[in-house]
Formats: sequence, structure tokens, C-alpha cells
Amino acid sequence: MNRQTLLQILDLARWAPSGDNTQPWRFEIIDDAHIAIHGHDTRKHVIYDFDGHASQMAHGALLETLRLAATRFGLKAVWNIRGGCPDDAPIYDVMLQAAEIQEDPLVRFIEKRCVQRRPMRTIPLSATEKEALATSVGNSYTLQYLESFTDRLAVARLLWDNAHLRLTCPEAFRVHRDVIEWNARFSNDRIPDQALGVDPLTARIMKWVMHSWERVTFFNRYMGGTIAPRVQMDFVPALRCASHILIRPEKTPASLQDYVLSGIALQQFWLTATSLGLQLQPEMTPLIFRWYVRAGRPISQLATINDAAVELAGKFEQLAGAGNNTPYAFFCRVGNSPQPRSRSLRKDTENLMTT
Ligand SMILES: Cc1cc2nc3c(=O)[nH]c(=O)nc-3n(C[C@H](O)[C@H](O)[C@H](O)COP(=O)(O)O)c2cc1C
Repeated sequence: MNRQTLLQILDLARWAPSGDNTQPWRFEIIDDAHIAIHGHDTRKHVIYDFDGHASQMAHGALLETLRLAATRFGLKAVWNIRGGCPDDAPIYDVMLQAAEIQEDPLVRFIEKRCVQRRPMRTIPLSATEKEALATSVGNSYTLQYLESFTDRLAVARLLWDNAHLRLTCPEAFRVHRDVIEWNARFSNDRIPDQALGVDPLTARIMKWVMHSWERVTFFNRYMGGTIAPRVQMDFVPALRCASHILIRPEKTPASLQDYVLSGIALQQFWLTATSLGLQLQPEMTPLIFRWYVRAGRPISQLATINDAAVELAGKFEQLAGAGNNTPYAFFCRVGNSPQPRSRSLRKDTENLMTT
């Protein structure tokens, strides 16, 4: 073990997914057997990061990717959450030790795994694929499939309503404006517009409209501004996939550690899907809005948005056959499709280092 090996492990680990590609982590090499991951979250300015949970799940995905990456070098990585740190700035101590272990078969898929936001084929998942996916999340999580045409249509309707909420919410607008890199096929620190799943004309109009909230409200009110993005980014992709899948934890997550564990499950699940040749898109916003609603907290200053969120949470629960308190950790769609041409990349490892 030396510093060079640890840098190679971090170089692979940074390919873990994070909400809007925020990469809420910085790395510190303490010695040849000890890496500290300094986590942060974006709850103060990103409405999707409800209580930091999306960032905490990303931390889990990072820790799991690091653990897998270490196996390439015959190393076992074990982490724990450092005591005394606030939940919005957790530090994870990762200890590495030489072990008689083979490279994990998922390591090959760490860099290949990426979001597919465009329509996929509707070929149903096979029993073998379902079994591999169920195994990937471990015993503390179960999978719920929404795969028939009727179910996919119901999800498409839900996402249609959900997207209306997102696109008419001023607090969400500020997030969208900051996370899209325009005229880009790749982006190191955001989402390139070409990976959003809209056609080039719609992307150009979105870029112009998203210049200001005044333009957004005018365009939405008088020109049906939400229709083209909702058709292309929500309704059609929701129909065109093999299945929507909910990952359901056995127990309601209640602590930082619980969300980190959900992140581990999601990354195992996503890498396994990639290893099966499947593409995946997270569909987290209905779950996140429901977290607000069931906690009795407002999403927006606008009452119309908060009312719409309550209605949406009810529709989601009806669709999933769930009660008000049924916990869900992850929602996504999967299916076969070519590898996306456009994707998010990552900040360079050296820019992710801290002392
Ligand atoms: C907790 C979490 C929530 C996410 N939610 C969404 C989502 O609702 N919709 C979406 O298209 N992508 C979502 N993503 C995917 C990220 O945008 C994506 O991982 C990031 O931009 C990096 O891109 P890559 O995964 O293609 O490398 C989510 C990722 C994580 C980890």
C-alpha cells in the first residue's frame, strides 16, 4: 500500500453517482492505510436534498464504490462514521488492509454506469435479471416492480404531474438553473444539457427560458412551456422502459447511517443493472416530495406547490399500494438501450483532495 495506490482507488471511487452530480465529498489521505472522506450536503440551497438525505445516499454510494475499487488492489476497505461530526458535515474514516481477495466483478462497471434519461426498450426483465437485482440490494431491502403497461402508464401520469410541480416551483428553478451545463455533451461538475433527454430545439428553448424566473412564468402561463419538457423527460421515458422499480427498506431510515446504507444498496443495484447490460434512470423526486409531505414540511413558499405535493404523495401511495408511512429508499426505471452519448463526468481527483 502506498499513496499512489490510494490515489488510484479514489480515482475510481469518484465515479459514484450523486444527485445532480454535486459530488458532495472531499478526500484526505491520512496515511497509507487511512483515507478520510469529508462529506457535505446541499440541503440549504437544493430542495431535492431534503435534510441532506440525497447527499447522504451519495456518500453511501461513494463508500461502496471505494470498497469495490480497493478489491482491484487486493485491499479490504472498512469504514465508520467519525463521532462528534454534525450530520451536514460527516467524516467517514476508511481503513484499508491487505487481504486475500479477488477483484470484485462489479469493478469493471464503475466507470460505465451512468444515467440514461432517454427512452429505453420495453423488453421485460427476465427472471434471472430480477434475481440478480434482488440479490444485489441484500436482505434489508426488497424490490417492487411496476412493469405492466398499465403500471407504466400510471407512473407516466404521476411523473407528468410531478414534473409540473418541479417546473413551476421557484425554489426548484434556482436548482435547475445551476445544475445544467448548456451546449455540452459532457460536464465535470454538472449535468450536460445533452444528457437531459430532450431534443436540441427544446434544449435551446429551455436555455433561453431558464435565463430568468420571469421568462419561466410567462412561458409556462401563455405558451404551455412545461409541455415539451414533460413529454420528453417524463411521460415518454416512463412508458418506454422495462420496468420502474422501488427499493424498499425493511425499516424506516432514521439516521445518517441508515441513508448511507440505502446509498450502498442503490449503488450495488445500479452496478448490477449495468453488469446485466441494463440502463437506469433514478426517479427520486416523487419520493423526495413525499418525504416533505409526510414530515409536514413545505417545499415552497407557494401554497399551490405544497397542495400539489400533498395530492401527489397520495397518488404515489395509491400507485405503489403503500400506506402513509411505508418507507422507500429509491425509485428508478430500467431497461435495455444503447449507452448514452452524453453524460456527466467527474471533477479531477486532485480537485477533490483536501488537507
Ligand atoms: C440520490 C440520487 C438521486 C438522484 N435523482 C435523480 C433523479 O431524480 N433524476 C435523474 O435523472 N437522475 C438522478 N440522479 C442521478 C444523478 O443526476 C447522476 O448520478 C449524476 O448526475 C452523475 O451522473 P452519472 O450517474 O451519469 O455518472 C440521482 C442520483 C442520486 C445518487
